[in-house]
Amino acid sequence: MTRMKAAAYTIAILPGLSMIFDLMSGQLGMIPLQSLVYWSGLWATALLILTFAISPLSQTLHWPHLIDGRRILGVSGLIYSLVHLICYALLRKWDLAGIWGEILRRPTLLIASLSLLGLMFLGLTSHDLMMKKLGSANWHRLHRLNGMLTALALLHFLMSPGSFSAQFLLSGSLFWILGWRILNKWNWHLQLTPLLILASLAGLFTGAFEIIWQKFHKNIPVEEVWSDLFDFTEGPSSIWIIWAIGLLLALLTFILNSKLKPMENHTHGA
Ligand code: HEM
Repeated sequence: MTRMKAAAYTIAILPGLSMIFDLMSGQLGMIPLQSLVYWSGLWATALLILTFAISPLSQTLHWPHLIDGRRILGVSGLIYSLVHLICYALLRKWDLAGIWGEILRRPTLLIASLSLLGLMFLGLTSHDLMMKKLGSANWHRLHRLNGMLTALALLHFLMSPGSFSAQFLLSGSLFWILGWRILNKWNWHLQLTPLLILASLAGLFTGAFEIIWQKFHKNIPVEEVWSDLFDFTEGPSSIWIIWAIGLLLALLTFILNSKLKPMENHTHGA
């Protein structure tokens, strides 16, 4: 097993261990199952988005081995989604008719079910044998659906009755990833200025999206969200975190590029 795969397994297992620990030590509040629905759903979404970020990260950080961990992270995102579904079914006491009715009644659950079914299908076809059977081109075409299914899972999280900063942190991350893919199409994905612009746009998007979503979906006044964005008492809000990560990635890409280019020229020249 490569070191990268071991790291991916560790990232995948840690949230589960933390959930088990919190459950055993009674730290999951009055209704532990409800907390488990929250945590398993949150980690499922985060792992799915992290999986989607691996390709941009491996290229911007000049770290091709990162790709080795991608499948493990994707499958673990799927496993947390299934645990989430089981916790939800337990919360509803396995009342399957009631659950079916709720899925049909609530668009958020319909979207989540579509996303989960799609991800399960991708999970089942993710091993090498299936890749050989389908042919590389077809397999890659099919697995491109991953982005859309991840976006649907995030939409389900956004439609949750609660308000959580992770909703906007993950939305900003997805914006950065999609923006990076556009830069990649134009071959600008390793250049400092486009990456700096992308970091700023991702930060602005995160803030604007939070204001608009909270106003129209939760009816929270614009002034309240605006002042939360600039309130640092409980740490920086999602807008600043997304901006800082984007800037850091742009600078790292620039530094690594300027370090690696002379070395490449040197080896080609030798
Ligand atoms: C791709 C798969 C899924 C992901 C990544 C996911 C993720 C999440 C997240 C992050 C939350 C927010 C936590 C909260 O509000 O407490 C959540 C809530 C919830 N999820 Fe999921 N979910 C998925 C699939 C499903 C499915 C298939 C169902 C059931 C049919 C479901 C039912 C719920 C319920 C009942 C809640 C509580 C909030 C609410 O009632 O809207 N989820 N999910």
